[in-house]
Amino acid sequence: MKVRKLTTDYFNQVHDLIKFYSERRLMLPLSLDELYHRAQAYRIIVGDSDRHPAKQGFASDVATKEVGIMRSMCSAKGNELDLGKKPMGTVLACAHLDIFTPQLAEIKSLAVIETEHGKGYGKTLVMDCEQDAKAIGIKKLFVLTYQQDFFTKLGYQVVDRNTLPEKVYKECIKCSYFDDCNEIAMVKSL
Ligand SMILES: CC(C)(COP(=O)(O)OP(=O)(O)OC[C@H]1O[C@@H](n2cnc3c(N)ncnc32)[C@H](O)[C@@H]1OP(=O)(O)O)[C@@H](O)C(=O)NCCC(=O)NCCS
Repeated sequence: MKVRKLTTDYFNQVHDLIKFYSERRLMLPLSLDELYHRAQAYRIIVGDSDRHPAKQGFASDVATKEVGIMRSMCSAKGNELDLGKKPMGTVLACAHLDIFTPQLAEIKSLAVIETEHGKGYGKTLVMDCEQDAKAIGIKKLFVLTYQQDFFTKLGYQVVDRNTLPEKVYKECIKCSYFDDCNEIAMVKSL
C-alpha cells in the first residue's frame, strides 16, 4: 500500500472525497483554493485506474471493451494502439498533516472512500502522518473527530478541546459550527 504526495492531477478527486464527507457533516468543508494552498501537506493512496470503473469514465466496462476491440483492430493492421496518457488512478484515501507549533500538529482531512473502508488505508495514512510529524520534531498530534473508536485503536486519547488553545483560537472560533461542535478532541504523544 503506497502512500504518495498529492499531485495536481489528483486535486479534484481529493476535493470531491472531502466534499462527500463534509456534506454528511463528518468532516469540515474545504475549498479548492484551501486545498491548493495546503496541497504539499497532503498524502494520498491511489488505486488502479480500473479498480473503480464507476469513478473512471475511461475505464468503465464499456470503454474497456471498446479499447480491447480497438487494440485488436490495430494489431491486425500491424500497428500499436497508442492511448496517449496513462489513465489516472482513483484516489482511495487522503490525509493532511497541519503544523500548528514546533510541538503540535493536527491530522486533518482523513478520508477513505466508502467502498474501501476497513482495508487499512485510514490506519496507514495516520501512521504516515505520525512518521512525518516525528521526523520533523513534532511532539504531539491531535485530531478533532467523530471517529473516536478508530483513533483510540491507534493510541489517541480523548481530551477537552480547550486543552488545545492553538486550535481553538486559530481555527475553531472562525468555524460556523463553533457553538454546535460535537467533534471529539483526541491527542497522541509521539
Ligand atoms: C475513519 C476512517 C478514516 C477509517 O479508515 P479505514 O481505512 O476504514 O480504517 P482502517 O481499515 O485503517 O482501520 C484500522 C483499524 O480501525 C478499525 N476501525 C476502522 N473504522 C472504525 C470505526 N469507525 N470505529 C471503530 N474502529 C474502526 C478497523 O477495524 C481497524 O482495526 P484493526 O486494526 O483491529 O483491524 C474511514 O472510515 C472514513 O473515511 N470515514 C469517513 C470520514 C471520517 O470520518 N474521517 C475522519 C475525520 S477525523
